[in-house]
Amino acid sequence: MSTDKDFLPINGTDYVEFYVGNAKQAAYYYQTAFGFQPLAYSGLETGDKEKTSYALRQDKITFVFTTPLKQGTDIGRHIDLHGDGVKYIALWVDDAKFSFEETTKRGAKPYMEPQVKKDEHGEVVVSGIHTYGETIHLFIERKNYKGVFLPGFKEWNPDYKTQEVGLKYVDHMVGNVGWGEMNKWVDFYAKVMGFKQIISFDDKDISTEYTALMSKVMSNGNGYIKFPINEPAEGKKKSQIEEYIDFYNGSGVQHVAMATDNIIYTINELRKRGVEFLHVPDEYYETVTDRVGEIDEDLEVLKDLRILIDRDNEGYLLQLFTKPIQDRPTVFYEIIQRKGAKSFGKGNFKALFEAIELEQENRGTL
Ligand code: FE2
Repeated sequence: MSTDKDFLPINGTDYVEFYVGNAKQAAYYYQTAFGFQPLAYSGLETGDKEKTSYALRQDKITFVFTTPLKQGTDIGRHIDLHGDGVKYIALWVDDAKFSFEETTKRGAKPYMEPQVKKDEHGEVVVSGIHTYGETIHLFIERKNYKGVFLPGFKEWNPDYKTQEVGLKYVDHMVGNVGWGEMNKWVDFYAKVMGFKQIISFDDKDISTEYTALMSKVMSNGNGYIKFPINEPAEGKKKSQIEEYIDFYNGSGVQHVAMATDNIIYTINELRKRGVEFLHVPDEYYETVTDRVGEIDEDLEVLKDLRILIDRDNEGYLLQLFTKPIQDRPTVFYEIIQRKGAKSFGKGNFKALFEAIELEQENRGTL
């Protein structure tokens, strides 16, 4: 057992910010389809002439959608290159200056020196470092802040509201990196951020007739932050990771897994609201009990909703994956309910990848 002091204590995911082509419509989609609640707004009315951002929240999950207001911006260039995607994974820390110093000292490429942002509700300290692709980790220190989100934002409270769907917190966020780059980024999270590797999968675990990938899962000290890192592996045809990298033009966030404590309610609700999920074939449910044994839920209900099940030494989990949530086959979501299991659904990979391959075949990208 290590007695090393955690040099980067993290309280949780502070927020995830997406650069998108139309933040107003994205905000409406996340309200309507995913049940996020309006939280805060910044744009022309708050004195920002460059960009508009909407912040939405559901329990502990905060998403921000940002769009440029003029041509020739870095945000516009980012969207042209990557499509809609995750720009910032913001981590909630007690000391943003210390987090910046400790990580850059260990080799992180600086993105933003610690900055104090103030308004009438107090101050927030923000700093940032680069990670894979053009993705950034921000460190957010908000212990001296009482406002709704961040300085620069005003409360956003439109008449239009939707019911939440039971999403609770970010369980993990997966990065896709290029050929042969997985270990470089695993080393980055170990050395620069003090994370530990908790799981690894190789192409023998994760392969079908056509596609393969390799993955290692990095976790911070308290386990609140888990970042699996995927790289493509050689298969007969193009893997889903390669397809992502082609359309994203590089490394980036592949999926955000959001936890629920009632996946039957959550998936039922999301389906009613038009969220599309990967197709799970009938045959999956014929053999699943042999693999996972006794579970609390009615298998017929899980089958109706096409929810996937997996078991590890500590318990089981229920999960399902959306189709990509923008036109490029890049970012998607996972909905997960953990019932003891701390793993990531390895037993479902084969069924899942065959479902993804079917979609790739329809897109002509296999
Ligand atoms: Fe996942």
